[in-house]
Amino acid sequence: MIVLLVVLCITDGVLAQIRYSVPEEADHGILVGNIAEDLGLDLTKLASRRFQVVPSSRTPYLEVNLENGVLFVNEKIDREQICKQSASCQLNMEVFLENPLELFRVEIEVVDINDNPPSFPETDITVEISESAVPGTRFPLESAFDPDVGSNALRTYDITTNNYFYLDVQTQTDGNKFAELVLEKPLDREQQAAHRYVLTAVDGGQPPRTGTALLVVKVLDSNDNVPVFDQPVYTVSLSENAPVGMLVIQLNATDMDEGLNGEIVYSFSNHISNRVKDLFSIDPRTGRIEVRGEVDFEESSLYQIFVQAKDLGPNAVAAHCKVLVKVTDLNDNAPEITFSTVTESVSEKAAPGTVIALLSVTDRDAEENGQIHVEIIGDVPFKLKTSFRNYFTIVTDGPLNREQADSYSITVVARDKGTPSLATSKSIRVQVSDENDNAPTFTQPIYDVYVTENNVPGAYIHAVTALDPDIGLNALISYSILECDIQGMSVKTYVSINEETGYLYALRSFDYEQLKDFTFMVQAKDAGTPELSTNSTVKVIIVDQNDNAPPGAGSLGEERHSQRASAAHR
Ligand SMILES: *[C@@H]1O[C@H](CO)[C@@H](O)[C@H](O)[C@H]1NC(C)=O
Ligand SMILES: *[C@@H]1O[C@H](CO)[C@@H](O)[C@H](O)[C@H]1NC(C)=O
Repeated sequence: MIVLLVVLCITDGVLAQIRYSVPEEADHGILVGNIAEDLGLDLTKLASRRFQVVPSSRTPYLEVNLENGVLFVNEKIDREQICKQSASCQLNMEVFLENPLELFRVEIEVVDINDNPPSFPETDITVEISESAVPGTRFPLESAFDPDVGSNALRTYDITTNNYFYLDVQTQTDGNKFAELVLEKPLDREQQAAHRYVLTAVDGGQPPRTGTALLVVKVLDSNDNVPVFDQPVYTVSLSENAPVGMLVIQLNATDMDEGLNGEIVYSFSNHISNRVKDLFSIDPRTGRIEVRGEVDFEESSLYQIFVQAKDLGPNAVAAHCKVLVKVTDLNDNAPEITFSTVTESVSEKAAPGTVIALLSVTDRDAEENGQIHVEIIGDVPFKLKTSFRNYFTIVTDGPLNREQADSYSITVVARDKGTPSLATSKSIRVQVSDENDNAPTFTQPIYDVYVTENNVPGAYIHAVTALDPDIGLNALISYSILECDIQGMSVKTYVSINEETGYLYALRSFDYEQLKDFTFMVQAKDAGTPELSTNSTVKVIIVDQNDNAPPGAGSLGEERHSQRASAAHR
């Protein structure tokens, strides 16, 4: 297709001008025009007038057949190569003829065809946009380039239809088109960190040609996420006396932001108790909570640790969680025995079941470790009675006898049911107090006392002795003679007794010839309440002396009796 345009303009036979146009990219041999015909030259005289052509540029694009004046394409013309972006592109040549001399100027307009698509400088275009950018924000994009001109030049841009952006195509003063990416809807990096669209540049040719590039929108993080714990409350159990450094729990919060915005620092919340701070530590980076002090079940069986996690980004907001530490019991406490009342002494006459002491047993440990078995050890006449809960009474269990055992040591053992079991023992001493349960007893049921006649009145004649196993007043013995008559006279005119010692004295001088013997009762009585007494018999035998005239010998028998009497004195 050749468009022929002739502008003929001859001025004073010096210079005439002729104009053609040829589309770029036309093949070799394509006719542009017939210069000779168009100038009205006689074809037969061309050779004789030495028709010749001088190309003004050394481009070998066009050629003229000097025999017939036909201008044709010699070599493909690339308008963009010759004229770059100029709106018009023209090749010139001059035509000479002699006889007479004629000079013609030939202008050949190279017409643009849409032989170039628009193209982007890079096939990938990356735009970085913060996720905090507000809708309406504009981001200029790199322009595409189309070497064609006029209507074949770049006309507009297009982008893959999407929810987030649209393109606003603008024209610069020099007519170049460029596009701005306009944010339509907020971005969320955590939902989608990059968006990919095809960016298309379209020229105005018929048909239009296009160039594409991959537009990558990288969403930059802003600190729009707080850290999140995977649970609001964590429950862990920890044995009491756990060693320092032992892991309690490894917390794990996650922050969907990146970089510092997603880097988490853990700490105890401000309102945490000082005790918890003493007992536990938290690693700010790893979220490890470790034992730091001595965890004692008996102090508390539950600790609440409030933890916060904060990222290092700007305007960070803390997230919170709670760690419940349930402390499990170890059998680290022995039972304790406390006597609240102890009777110092108990009467030997006390009835079985008499309360001696009141005691309580406690164990600070829990459950099995705190369950206590209590008993009295040894063979003692006492037993334990449960009163209520952990209170016990020690009561007498059977008769007591001070004369056999006047005090007891009572040992109570409390043993818990833990493994291993712990035990405590405590002893009390109880005195058995005396009761007047024993009457005095004479050393002999009957005393034979020999007294030689003619004794001095008031002479000591014998001692009676009674014993009493009780103590104190209950064993304080007083002696007396029980009233009776001897030959019509009170016995108390014959003998007397020392109340305290039991020594017997003759009150008169005995005469064998009148009274050979006599018998009376002595009594030993203690001072107990009620008092107890015993009787015993004393038989006084008067021993004869040779105190009468009639001849006869009886000194032998008298001598013997006298010795026996003196033996009884001792
Ligand atoms: C924390 O949780 C995240 C997500 O569940 C996981 O990828 C990460 O490995 C966990 N870290 C630890 C220390 O448990
Ligand atoms: C001792 O003798 C007196 C007087 O005969 C009598 O009353 C008393 O019961 C006797 N005591 C005992 C223990 O036999």
